Amino acid sequence: MKFLPLIGLATMLLAPPSYANDQVLEQALRQELDTHFLQDKIDSIDENDLSIREDLGESWINNSKQHELEVIRDGIDQLGHLMLGTYVVENSPVLATNLADEVTGGHQDYRILRDAHPKGHMCVNAAFEVLENDFFPKESFLGSTGRHQAIVRYSNASASPQSDADKDIRGGALKVLLPEQGQEHDFLMITAPTIPTDNAEQFVNLVKVARVANCIGIIPEGESDGSLLGAIADFEQQVVALGQCIRDGGLSILDVPQVLLALKRVNDLNKDSEIESLLDKDFFSVAPYAYNDNVFKFEMSPVSCDEFNPEPSLLTAEEANADNGLERNISRVISAGNACYDFNVISRPLFLTDKQAIETHNKTWDEMAFYELERVKVATVSISQFEPGTAVSPLACDNMTFTPRHSAPGFRPLGSLNRARTLVYDALADFRLEANTYLRQR
Ligand code: HEM
Repeated sequence: MKFLPLIGLATMLLAPPSYANDQVLEQALRQELDTHFLQDKIDSIDENDLSIREDLGESWINNSKQHELEVIRDGIDQLGHLMLGTYVVENSPVLATNLADEVTGGHQDYRILRDAHPKGHMCVNAAFEVLENDFFPKESFLGSTGRHQAIVRYSNASASPQSDADKDIRGGALKVLLPEQGQEHDFLMITAPTIPTDNAEQFVNLVKVARVANCIGIIPEGESDGSLLGAIADFEQQVVALGQCIRDGGLSILDVPQVLLALKRVNDLNKDSEIESLLDKDFFSVAPYAYNDNVFKFEMSPVSCDEFNPEPSLLTAEEANADNGLERNISRVISAGNACYDFNVISRPLFLTDKQAIETHNKTWDEMAFYELERVKVATVSISQFEPGTAVSPLACDNMTFTPRHSAPGFRPLGSLNRARTLVYDALADFRLEANTYLRQR
């Protein structure tokens, strides 16, 4: 880790705030963190980090490995800067916290948050119990009955922490501990069955737009007064805003139709997400995975536990309106007992093309198959009742890394989004942890 070049900056930070020009300080800090903790992550990724299994239906974006590598590097750069807010225009809702205030205000707890799912509700202890099933062979940990210790980190997906009373996709990151194999297996899920983009390039384009303030708000909402002139004025405003987004976001004009469609899907997914207890939500892998040659997706669906929990999971009116209502809801319920989910898998329907099954993420396999596919229950997830002294602290929870790369032997994330995630999560989690260690030590 490269601390030496930061000493000059640290001296500047320790100077009385009255001598510091907030904006210069903020820019300097971001520049330092970027140079010393982010850029080497981007440079260290090369072709050897990427491979595909064509026999399972994977294909490179634009049929070019080199192109996909560039997209992933660009993604780490874009997402990393999103975390720092470096290129975010003033007052952007994307900027999670005012860095200058944090630095000059003497807060010692400033931390760079995850760029996605920054707001964690809490990490809870759980048991992951593998059931007798024919889906996985005995040599796989999902085919061999047994009870494993696990942790779930619940989160909001939005790029900046916001009130739980706002509609949002939520995240459920499940870490199954496999100490006998010296391993962890992470299952990353969200409460939507699809995401708005099919490949990493489209996803990175969305991130570019997200870095420019208010672009999300340009989607036509039909808010004009209904007159022809009103509609034309609305349209003109949207064209101007769009031009600004394209220029500031570094997008090509050719990307615009795809980006607009993806933005519309983002809005639709958010609008459709009900504000409910996370203990009552279904969670989806969205992307496909393989165990050897067997391709599947996974889901987690709420069920009643065998042991009755007297505390209802339904949000109370107070919880539904509170900024941290989801955390309060989980605390209330698991203070009284366990909360349970079934862990189900879906087999790849063979009649879907490789493109549909492996490289499409804005439609579910059910939607493409035109019927609900069979789910096979292979495990249960039981969120453990609170026991004094066993809670995962918020800092430990924040410092944890969940990534599709944490996989037991034989498992493999599939598809463009997963290939990008496997590299992006590692790079950005390391960046976040290294930069935070520096910020906390100064
Ligand atoms: C299949 C669709 C996806 C799902 C289900 C998903 C799910 C999640 C979840 C649950 C988290 C929170 C993890 C935690 O609690 O630590 C997360 C974090 C994150 N996601 Fe995704 N995600 C998806 C797609 C993507 C894509 C395509 C990218 C970018 C290429 C991305 C970038 C990130 C990053 C950078 C983090 C924060 C990682 C960290 O700093 O530890 N995600 N994702």
